[in-house]
Amino acid sequence: MKITVDYIKGLKGKKKIVAITAYDYTTATLIDELVDIILVGDSGGMVMLGYDNTIPVSMDEMLLFCKGVAKGRKRAMIVADMPFMSYHIDDTSTLKNAFKLVKYANVDAVKIEGGKEMSDRIKRLVDAGIPVMAHIGLKPQTATLWHGYKVHGLTKDSALKLLEDAKALEDAGAFSIVLEQVTYEVAKMISERLSIPTIGIGSGNACDGQIIVIHDMLGLYEKFKPRFVKRYAELASIIRDAIKLYAEDVINGKFPADEHTFHMSEEEYKSL
Ligand code: KIV
Repeated sequence: MKITVDYIKGLKGKKKIVAITAYDYTTATLIDELVDIILVGDSGGMVMLGYDNTIPVSMDEMLLFCKGVAKGRKRAMIVADMPFMSYHIDDTSTLKNAFKLVKYANVDAVKIEGGKEMSDRIKRLVDAGIPVMAHIGLKPQTATLWHGYKVHGLTKDSALKLLEDAKALEDAGAFSIVLEQVTYEVAKMISERLSIPTIGIGSGNACDGQIIVIHDMLGLYEKFKPRFVKRYAELASIIRDAIKLYAEDVINGKFPADEHTFHMSEEEYKSL
């Protein structure tokens, strides 16, 4: 059975929500049964397309990532990031872009970065039938333009602002909220005060669930590693070792071997 918004909301207080990013069909087939939520994050712009940050990611790029993931999923809920400036101009363009992701790329919900200032827009999407995951704390789409990749919730003022934002987003109808790089204390306070689940990234273990970028946890993305990332595998070195062996085999004539080779029949060969 496919995971629904109500199922995710119902997990709060009962079982931690497991979320991870993916950007393509093959990865989606591998992880589908293992997680509750697959986030097609705009981090795909960095790990798949080599952008320095998420600002340049376009709707067309997100649609392509989402289509691949949707083809590979059977069970997990797919949430798609709305790219920078695809939901900032007005309600109409926001609705059109969100509909494209749901209608043509088969995702189940969209994610939007922003606090109280985004609550009216989120309400419009929810009223139109599109489930929305909100995202506060470190907001990667605007972090580089404003404050850099800083920790949020270090001071009383910052904590109060996060609490106010989280409440406004819940009231607007968001079904969950990503808390990125928020102090443990504030993430705990928000998680306890909201009836919708919080999904943490770099925000400690008091959140109702966790999300991580798959290239980070598998050790595939080597440009930088945020402090909050735990590496569960070192795939970059496994890939390099495999490619070295392949190159050696090609150079030494060991690959392809006979079992990888197709033959004519002897009879056909002789007549040739
Ligand atoms: O784009 C992304 O991968 C995200 C996660 C970091 C939450 O927004």
